[in-house]
Amino acid sequence: MIDKFGREINYLRISVTDRCNLRCKYCMPEEGFSNLIPHDEILSFEEIISLAEAAAKIGITKIRLTGGEPLIRRNIVELISRMSAIEGIKEIGITTNGVLLAKMAEDLKKAGVTRVNISLDTLDPDKYREITRGGDLSKVLAGIEAAKKAGLTPIKINCVALGGFNDDEFSKFIEMTREEDVIIRFIELMPIGAADVGEGYGFVSNQEIIDSHPDLIPLGEDKNSVAVNYKLPGAKGEVGFISALSNHFCAQCNKIRLTSDGKIKPCLHSNEEIDMKPALAEGSPDGVVKALAESVGHKIEHHLLNEGAAPIERDMNKIGG
Ligand code: GTP
Ligand code: 5AD
Ligand code: SF4
Repeated sequence: MIDKFGREINYLRISVTDRCNLRCKYCMPEEGFSNLIPHDEILSFEEIISLAEAAAKIGITKIRLTGGEPLIRRNIVELISRMSAIEGIKEIGITTNGVLLAKMAEDLKKAGVTRVNISLDTLDPDKYREITRGGDLSKVLAGIEAAKKAGLTPIKINCVALGGFNDDEFSKFIEMTREEDVIIRFIELMPIGAADVGEGYGFVSNQEIIDSHPDLIPLGEDKNSVAVNYKLPGAKGEVGFISALSNHFCAQCNKIRLTSDGKIKPCLHSNEEIDMKPALAEGSPDGVVKALAESVGHKIEHHLLNEGAAPIERDMNKIGG
């Protein structure tokens, strides 16, 4: 479906849970577990499938499952199997912290997952424990290996640039791509929830990282991604930059988001949400298609963070990025 700014909307991100087995400091407030969405408000598999079917009818071809941590949602593999059978859905991705991937990669591949994006902000086990409030880096590294083995490729590794925390590791991440066939993506820290009020990490613009690594060769624009990719000469992997603030990509925005409590967010950085539950409750597939199509009409032209708009109210674990 084409929105009123001429953008083709073909990508739906579905947050299947706001729960997570980590508590990254920039994502969840320390007391994050005290304001979780009540279980009875979380969409059931039936509801998620109804919405995914409606999405396919309005032209969505790519679905990405997010969280919180999507892999902790019970029977997620079953949900994915059902989703991959929907006519018109060509790609199912998952964005995960990777902790459970070593156990689940094979089953995910069999169920129809095309590839995974894995969050990893540091290569140092102690710093990993610190930023995730208790996580075990070795599990993520094992998860990356399992994902490679299962063919969930190309694997993208999401590294949020956190001034004063991991800026001394950017070169190490970039060097990793010489031998590892992965795409390391640096993400500019967005002012959302805990990242806005929390630990006071410094903003690092992606241009600074590009400027300090003159070896990186630009690969040109990738129409299917918000990242701009580069490569070290002769490297097996690539380096991507997601510059949501310094060089936003709203003009090419092709997505809508569904929260785990059934709200469509037409833009990540707007508080506007459209509740899908009334249409789901009516039980008419055509009604769900109509509600979803109407929500696309609410997409704004671009976010206004650089013009001084206030950060949105939802925490990142309740959106999924
Ligand atoms: P693929 O392109 O399918 O590999 O995935 P993706 O980059 O869309 O998804 P992923 O979940 O890996 O997101 C990476 C980062 O990009 C996260 O920090 C997201 O919040 C951010 N991001 C993705 N889409 C948008 C967007 O439309 N706007 C903004 N501001 N950030 C986005
Ligand atoms: N800014 C940028 N990226 C973020 N993520 C979580 N919070 C933020 C933020 N405030 C990233 C996670 C994950 C992806 C879905 O979003 O690290 O990789
Ligand atoms: Fe969990 Fe991802 Fe948020 Fe970290 S960034 S707390 S892994 S949802």
